[in-house]
Amino acid sequence: MRRVLVTGASRGIGRAVAVKFAERGDRVGVHYAAQRQDAEETLRLLPGSGHVLLAGDLADPEAARRIVDEAVGSLGGIDVLVNNAAVAPTAGNRHSVADVSYAQWQRSWHHMVDVNLLGAANVTYCVARHLIDRGESGSIVNIGSRGAFRGEPDFPAYGASKAALHAFGQSMAVALAPHAIAVVSVAPGFVATERQTAKMSGPAGDELRGQSPFGRVGTPEEVADAVLYLSSPQAAWSSGAVLDLNGASYLRT
Ligand SMILES: NC(=O)c1ccc[n+]([C@@H]2O[C@H](COP(=O)([O-])OP(=O)(O)OC[C@H]3O[C@@H](n4cnc5c(N)ncnc54)[C@H](OP(=O)(O)O)[C@@H]3O)[C@@H](O)[C@H]2O)c1
Repeated sequence: MRRVLVTGASRGIGRAVAVKFAERGDRVGVHYAAQRQDAEETLRLLPGSGHVLLAGDLADPEAARRIVDEAVGSLGGIDVLVNNAAVAPTAGNRHSVADVSYAQWQRSWHHMVDVNLLGAANVTYCVARHLIDRGESGSIVNIGSRGAFRGEPDFPAYGASKAALHAFGQSMAVALAPHAIAVVSVAPGFVATERQTAKMSGPAGDELRGQSPFGRVGTPEEVADAVLYLSSPQAAWSSGAVLDLNGASYLRT
């Protein structure tokens, strides 16, 4: 049994990750920002016992520290951290350079970088120090994005925050290896989460499915399966990797 903190587990990929760990017999800290009912639904879906809810806005460094402290207290420690929470692209936070005001531009950049990059960096710091201080091994998996490589013309702050998250993960992989802590990132392409349902069934659906030669988009469970493997002791040698999970829709060189 491992103690696992999954940020942003109230729905989507985070929920699928939480379910996979719980199915394996692990104890999960289900973090969310504001959607308590959704997080409670995740908790209900988890087999086993000892799982807990943790709330907080990761744009706030003090909240990040408190979330980790609460997780350590209620789970009895943390062995695995999944940095999944993010401000993801929505119609409401689109910020194409040609279309938005300078004020909107700055708002989007601050919000996405504060949560997607600095939030993950702060949670990582607190979890890494917890592990180092106990002299215990662990693993950290970042949920990045294909957008870091392919570009996000309508959401450049999102793409940049994910590219930075990948780079942060690689720096941490080197820094934390001497402490037996492995750090990897995954870079999913389009994933059919609840948030994406309208897009999938609308006119853009065929284009999205057509991005992959498999003729479909990814599922949250496929991302969760990769996270489960990458957090395992068997995957320690993958530390420093950024794994594409995009159905061959975008090939990096
Ligand atoms: N779905 C995709 O197509 C796709 C593709 C590539 C990468 N990803 C990445 O995969 C991860 C999950 O994506 P998803 O589609 O499952 O996302 P989602 O449905 O939008 O869920 C986002 C999660 O992050 C939490 N969150 C949002 N703002 C936060 C804040 N300020 N502080 C703390 N937590 C916050 C949300 O909590 P509340 O519910 O409480 O607001 C929610 O649990 C993200 O990192 C995303 O960038 C997704």
